[in-house]
Amino acid sequence: MDLNLIDALRSTGAVREFEDRPVDRDVVARVLDTARFAPNGGNQQSWRVVLVEDPATKAAMRDLYVPGWLEYLEMRKAGVQPWAPIGDPEGEAAAVERARRLTHDEAAAAAGGFAAHFDQVPVMAVILADLRLLAGTDRDLGRYTLVGGASVYPFVWSILLAGHAEGLGGVVTTMTTTREPEVRQLLHVPDEFAVAAVLALGYPVKRPRNLRRDPVDSFATIDAFDGPPVANP
Ligand SMILES: Cc1cc2nc3c(=O)[nH]c(=O)nc-3n(C[C@H](O)[C@H](O)[C@H](O)COP(=O)(O)O)c2cc1C
Repeated sequence: MDLNLIDALRSTGAVREFEDRPVDRDVVARVLDTARFAPNGGNQQSWRVVLVEDPATKAAMRDLYVPGWLEYLEMRKAGVQPWAPIGDPEGEAAAVERARRLTHDEAAAAAGGFAAHFDQVPVMAVILADLRLLAGTDRDLGRYTLVGGASVYPFVWSILLAGHAEGLGGVVTTMTTTREPEVRQLLHVPDEFAVAAVLALGYPVKRPRNLRRDPVDSFATIDAFDGPPVANP
């Protein structure tokens, strides 16, 4: 599929429902072959990808996804911004505790569609980042570090975009990162690597339209944070 770049950037929304149709490994390889041109600090290309194909391993990954998802739901229910670096640790801890106390049936009901069937996604791609190669220029600021991730998430986004051009849809997921030690153990990942995301990809049942995002004048200003807004086009 030949996608206009601007259209692709404006229409690559999250897809969580997939046709029951496998994706050839060749197609995934082509997507990765394009995504590898993503920008990254010092061109160190810290990313590694593990395609999880074995059904038992996929099921184990689902089991590492669901607890984080239940915690997320409880935090949202309590009005807590989930895992915000500047947040409400007490409200968060209480929500996490509530999630851990859910009965099996309550948890199954809450986990619902995508989380409960996470193992069924046609392509499960675990994206890892080599912490020895990231350019974390904000590492020593004494606050939550953000910049290192910028050397791997453009690659993740490029996978979604290149996938779109192949007729695929997908979604970035990070619930399993809350269980990183278990993911590492399951997939034999060395300690020097962080789990950046798990991508689900497949042929979409339907593609999201009209993505909702805030307008330019709500987030861009001139000369200073409190400067005049950049007018919407
Ligand atoms: C860093 C990141 C983490 C995300 N984690 C999850 C996740 O764990 N599970 C999920 O279903 N969606 C996840 N998403 C998808 C977001 O929910 C989605 O991008 C957002 O709601 C916008 O959706 P839209 O593009 O369809 O409008 C994540 C997206 C990003 C960029």
